[in-house]
Amino acid sequence: MSVGVAILGSTGSIGTSTLRVLARQRERFRVVALTAFGSLERLREQAAATGAAFVGLVNGRNDASLDCGEDAVTGVGADCLVDAATHPDVQTVVNAVVGAAGLRATLAALEAGKRVALANKETLVMAGDLVARAAERGGGEIVPVDSEHSAVLQCITGQAPQGVRRLILTASGGPFRNRSAEEVEHVTVDEALAHPTWDMGPKITIDSATLANKALEVIEAHFLFGLPYDAIEVVVHPQSIIHAFAEFVDGSVLAQVGFPSMELPILYALTHPERVTDAGVPRFDPVAAGPLTFEPLRHDVFPSFRLGIEAGRAGGTMPAVFNAANEVAVQAFLERRVGFGQMARVVEGVLASHDRMEALEVDVVLEADRWARERAEAACC
Ligand SMILES: NC(=O)c1ccc[n+]([C@@H]2O[C@H](COP(=O)([O-])OP(=O)(O)OC[C@H]3O[C@@H](n4cnc5c(N)ncnc54)[C@H](OP(=O)(O)O)[C@@H]3O)[C@@H](O)[C@H]2O)c1
Repeated sequence: MSVGVAILGSTGSIGTSTLRVLARQRERFRVVALTAFGSLERLREQAAATGAAFVGLVNGRNDASLDCGEDAVTGVGADCLVDAATHPDVQTVVNAVVGAAGLRATLAALEAGKRVALANKETLVMAGDLVARAAERGGGEIVPVDSEHSAVLQCITGQAPQGVRRLILTASGGPFRNRSAEEVEHVTVDEALAHPTWDMGPKITIDSATLANKALEVIEAHFLFGLPYDAIEVVVHPQSIIHAFAEFVDGSVLAQVGFPSMELPILYALTHPERVTDAGVPRFDPVAAGPLTFEPLRHDVFPSFRLGIEAGRAGGTMPAVFNAANEVAVQAFLERRVGFGQMARVVEGVLASHDRMEALEVDVVLEADRWARERAEAACC
């Protein structure tokens, strides 16, 4: 019997990569549900190609305009993410939504006992403890899609958890790795969108240029693997060939290696701990990969990283506030309302004015998210 899959955010970068992966695995998986925010035409094409039973458009009207084929049930509004994630024929949910919008669907899927292949790292950053509790209550599980976290998972699978001493996540360093703080202050949107090694959606591409993404990933790793922040480090590795290292208590270090492609981590998140053929990625060739180099992260040029780590360490509602303020600042930068350097200052100001609360209820997290967005918007004017 094949596994039913829901893809939340099917029209984005991870969503379309997931559909390519699934097209090579028809005997193992079938697409049951698809959702998008507003890309109706693309969603219709995907529904026709996969025969999905449920199709959701967050920013849509549930009328004839949403026609996605005779047999497809359609849904609109934010609830369609939860409907897709908890569909009875779905066993695995690929959460490829960008931003805080993915949180409720992750929680609902875990409560309903599904596997969540999680690309939407913002979910764990905002509410890591709530996610863990939802999984415990409902019997669901999270498997990471992010390449660094997939690399860690591949290194530590089969090892005793207490044997893992330290994780080192790699960062490409983004397009401004060699620029000075003064130069970075005024880079353009087009320059920031030109990532040297990965082809991704706009929000994560900007986060990679500021290194906010790496802070989000450290927080994600903290919740996924249960290690303290002191045991999770980051090194700049411009070639993006090694995705992460795991160090064990005996001093041994394992790394996961491959040419940059999200298709392998997506496939592994679907099949973990099993490995199956045809990941669709080029065979690894060490000579073609060329020299591999490593550098420390430049905190003076990329303050977003420090801000994110501090928020993660503070815990409670602080990571959700960091995430929300960062989302607003990135959007403002993409709309050319703030400069590159201003993004970190917006986030720093919002964090400094937040009274931390314990994040024990989802409503508290969502209220902190709302509050931070309002503050950040005001600071972006
Ligand atoms: N791209 C990568 O290589 C990569 C790697 C690792 C992790 N990730 C993570 O994966 C997630 C998705 O990234 P991406 O690069 O695939 O983003 P993307 O290309 O911008 O795609 C985002 C998807 O989410 C949908 N969406 C946007 N806003 C939404 C909302 N408010 N409610 C519901 N759906 C919404 C979009 O629909 P429309 O098309 O209709 O707008 C689209 O399908 C992010 O959390 C990112 O950090 C991405």
